[in-house]
Amino acid sequence: MTETNVRQLFQSKFGREFHLFRAPGRINLIGEHTDYNLGYVLPAAINKYIYLAIQPNETAKFHIQAADLKEDVSFDTSFHKDTLPAWARYPAGVIRELSNQGYHLKGFNAVFGGDIPTGAGLSSSAALESAFALALNYMNNLELTRIELARIGQQAEHHTVGVRCGIMDQFASACGKANQLIRLDCRDLSHTYFPFENMNHTLLLVNTGVRHALAESAYNERRGQCEEGVRVLTERFPGVESLRDVSREMLRIAKKDLDPLVLKRCEFVAEENERVIRTCEALEKGDMDKTGELMWDSHQGLRHKYEVSCRELDLLVETAKTISGVKGARMMGGGFGGCTINLLETRCVDLFKKVTSEKFHNQFQRHPEFYEVTIADGATHND
Ligand code: GLA
Repeated sequence: MTETNVRQLFQSKFGREFHLFRAPGRINLIGEHTDYNLGYVLPAAINKYIYLAIQPNETAKFHIQAADLKEDVSFDTSFHKDTLPAWARYPAGVIRELSNQGYHLKGFNAVFGGDIPTGAGLSSSAALESAFALALNYMNNLELTRIELARIGQQAEHHTVGVRCGIMDQFASACGKANQLIRLDCRDLSHTYFPFENMNHTLLLVNTGVRHALAESAYNERRGQCEEGVRVLTERFPGVESLRDVSREMLRIAKKDLDPLVLKRCEFVAEENERVIRTCEALEKGDMDKTGELMWDSHQGLRHKYEVSCRELDLLVETAKTISGVKGARMMGGGFGGCTINLLETRCVDLFKKVTSEKFHNQFQRHPEFYEVTIADGATHND
């Protein structure tokens, strides 16, 4: 669905007057499952969007149409989440968080749609939250900052959607900048923008088309295991408040105190945090080989220590390794399906697609989708 489609649909359903907001999906170069452990991530907003046309309607009701799904809902602030379709819990969650903070929100009519594939690990849900958070902030003169709006989206996921996610996705969607990666410290949300001018390299996503039904419960389970690690480690190292404070050396010392599975999860997080820092150092020197090497390592950790990969993702990464000009590849996002992110020399893109497509088809009898993404600005108001 394009921006024009969303504009036209709103006009034909509700009239000519409306505001248009646009919020992007995101990639993450490296730093997976580190955000809720208050570590580092390196995401960026991309040129795939949710478009939202919206206008106050002088009532207390929120009417929302999901244009791609051709579904409508209407509710007020007293909604019960179980009565809403899954997609509506994202905007409803944003409304609930703002209401709980004491803001009185005007009712509205809204139509949204976009071109971020869902279930692909590109954070279409965070984009939806960002678009609504920005729109409600504007229409109700709330004067919240982008970082506060990102927090609202994250809280909506926790309380209304039921995923205890970190802040990375909402932050990237709200605060992204064109041609810049964001090195975000998830403990205090301090961040620096890192130029990523492609310099003859392309970031190519490959979508497995897989989404495992248990992905959300497995995500919450991983988070629980990290919390268990922190609980045990604090006893030995009183300063530890999150896995961010835990080094590999500390894990070696405390090895016997920890359940072996919890230890593996903690090791991954400590290593992944280090990899983000080392990736930034490599990028500062323009060292794509080193950046790529850290991406391969990240995938190995996600596969064997954090155990959030799947056969399709592993095949894509293994295949990428065999293609010349590929600097690095790894699964991206929460895991259990979705996309791989591949850093490769631009001249190799066609060969990469051909080889990958064939291999994937041989194994799974279907072709994966490819997205060549560019790094874009965060959410905007585009009247
Ligand atoms: C999902 C979550 C993020 C983050 C990633 C894994 O995208 O929404 O907060 O935890 O998984 O890095």
